[in-house]
Amino acid sequence: MNRDRSLEVPIRHLLCPQWSFVLLAMATVLFAATPLLYAQSVNPLEGDARAIRGGAGLFRAQCATCHGANAKGISSIEAPDLTQIWSQRSLSAAAVFEIIRHGIPGSIMPPHSLTDTENWMLVAYLQSIAQAGVVGLPAGDAAAGRLAFVENCSTCHRAHGVGESLGPNLSNVTSQLSLERLVASVRDPDALVGRGYKLVQLRVSEGEEITGLIKSEDAFSLQLQDDTGRLRSVNKSELQTVERLPGSLMPAFVRTQLSNQRLFDIFNFLQNGAQQ
Ligand code: HEC
Ligand code: HEC
Repeated sequence: MNRDRSLEVPIRHLLCPQWSFVLLAMATVLFAATPLLYAQSVNPLEGDARAIRGGAGLFRAQCATCHGANAKGISSIEAPDLTQIWSQRSLSAAAVFEIIRHGIPGSIMPPHSLTDTENWMLVAYLQSIAQAGVVGLPAGDAAAGRLAFVENCSTCHRAHGVGESLGPNLSNVTSQLSLERLVASVRDPDALVGRGYKLVQLRVSEGEEITGLIKSEDAFSLQLQDDTGRLRSVNKSELQTVERLPGSLMPAFVRTQLSNQRLFDIFNFLQNGAQQ
């Protein structure tokens, strides 16, 4: 599996940190052209609690006989410890997906005919029992990373006391997400939009339009954070239209804008803070 491919994202948006309608319109057009499970190199279900539970069930039924109930492996049949595959073997999520699907020829590791979703659920389970967070972060300059963070990210993110809170706080993100997932979040944010950050555009009875992030929803109402940052609750019965917009509020940063080294500087800042 070519790891680098996950970094190779076409120039989709001109960088526009503002929350503009142009960006939304482009995201909508792009989405229409992209099948949902389009060759993922990152697990779309990583960190999803329900998927992890489902994956654990599949694991008990299909894998535990060989790899052990705790996935720590069974040495008498040379079935490896699957909690170590991310850190010691540095397998990518896509590589593990392929191994589960096709098995390992010449060994007793069998192929599995599971749906893509079930397969990713298993990968999500294996990711959840692995050593969490970034393993082997490439070296970088945390002080330069702080500057790059302030310049590129702090209008939406907060970390180690700097920045705003439109997007998630990133102070602990390096102990929550894998390096692969972190890089993908920055290079291709539309591929995976976190819960609480889905975009919606509403038209209320009198013609007022509201664009915002869905924070929660039930059968009768929607709670959202509008584009001024205000939290609002709207009754569904008062809505004329509800358009759910694919894609993330976060712009994609391509390598020509933000090199890998600069990105690793930022991750070093996120992991360690800026050493004064
Ligand atoms: C019949 C026994 C058996 C079953 C069932 C089985 N495995 Fe395996 N698995 C193995 C063996 C043995 C290997 C090591 C093969 C080798 O490297 O030669 C392996 C290797 C792997 C690897 C690669 C590990 C590495 O370090 O490269 C992964 C990932 C994996 N199995 C996941 C699974 C999952 C997930 C399931 C259930 C869907 C599963 N296996 C079911 C026996 C099994
Ligand atoms: C215009 C606002 C904006 C800018 C600028 C921005 N982000 Fe984001 N970012 C978001 C939003 C909103 C989310 C949550 C939605 C999503 O998952 O895509 C997010 C999600 C993320 C995530 C995933 C966090 C998680 O817990 O899943 C990471 C990592 C991230 N951003 C890093 C960065 C970095 C690094 C930069 C600067 C190079 C940056 N972002 C710039 C708005 C922004």
